[in-house]
Amino acid sequence: MSLEVNADSKNTIYTPDVARITRIERLSPTEKVFKIVFDDEEIKNKFEFKPGQFVELTVFGLGEAPFSIISNPKNRDFLKLCIRDVGGVSRALHNMEEGEKVGIRGPFGNGYFPYEKMKNQNVLLIAGGLGLAPLMSLIRYILHYREDYKGIMVIYGAVNPESILFKNEIQYWSNRGDISLCLSVDNPDDKWTGEIGICTKLIPRVIFPPDDTYVAVAGPPAMYKYVVYELEKKKYKPENIFLSLERRMECGVGKCNHCHVGNKLVCVDGPVFSLWEIRNLKEAI
Ligand SMILES: Cc1cc2nc3c(=O)[nH]c(=O)nc-3n(C[C@H](O)[C@H](O)[C@H](O)COP(=O)(O)OP(=O)(O)OC[C@H]3O[C@@H](n4cnc5c(N)ncnc54)[C@H](O)[C@@H]3O)c2cc1C
Ligand code: FES
Repeated sequence: MSLEVNADSKNTIYTPDVARITRIERLSPTEKVFKIVFDDEEIKNKFEFKPGQFVELTVFGLGEAPFSIISNPKNRDFLKLCIRDVGGVSRALHNMEEGEKVGIRGPFGNGYFPYEKMKNQNVLLIAGGLGLAPLMSLIRYILHYREDYKGIMVIYGAVNPESILFKNEIQYWSNRGDISLCLSVDNPDDKWTGEIGICTKLIPRVIFPPDDTYVAVAGPPAMYKYVVYELEKKKYKPENIFLSLERRMECGVGKCNHCHVGNKLVCVDGPVFSLWEIRNLKEAI
């Protein structure tokens, strides 16, 4: 999408396109997945995005918020968002029903996970909690073209078994046998047989060599410095480590400065950055 704003034009980057929620699926006590289809067939056909990009979703009469797109970029019929019930916009969405209308602006973000450069490389994906959401479109894309990539490993940490997101997809990945999975929870229940504790402690077990490995990371801000510390110990290259940053946003298109991190704007320069780009930016990680 062009970032040019034409004051005479009815449709600007600030005008949401009308879309309909066609399916709502509960993932956990606090997260739901919303399947969304544009009303206008032409807009639907034109909508293209890259793994890691986001949209601004409007609840009409209330406001808007940015959400990562979790569906496969190859699928042009709909987009899916995974939304945690935390406040104004997200709570209103959680109270909506299938068939109701929302607005969509985007896709936004010029920084995305470099799925092309990752070809013929190992890909390590590290997610904490809701951080699995921004990684989902990348994982789906890679699995769509599985033969183009070397080893794939997902390290995912959640607070407890109940809060693990995308359980159906995780089961499917585990059945495929061509993707390694390491799941860890902070607070196990009686039935939990997997790893216990923060997921960063699983990084030393990764056997992918630094020369042909890309890493994609998303999770709560507090996780990043520990992940980076472990990845650097393994000598993974900063230019091959990609992190999705989340900051409070307003416009989503580089005009309001709400989302700045040092001299970068997360909405237009990110939300995905290489470690090489941001390692010296104050407050980035
Ligand atoms: C690039 C980007 C991608 C994002 N992707 C997703 C996504 O895929 N799924 C998703 O659910 N959210 C995502 N978010 C966060 C989302 O945009 C909103 O910030 C969040 O939904 C809260 O907005 P709200 O209007 O519901 O709550 P608000 O009314 O703004 O906030 C209500 C209360 O919740 C607190 N709060 C706000 N955000 C959070 C948070 N993330 N965690 C805990 N407490 C919070 C506020 O401080 C406030 O006290 C993303 C944000 C960015 C910048
Ligand atoms: S959200 Fe307005 S500049 Fe980034």
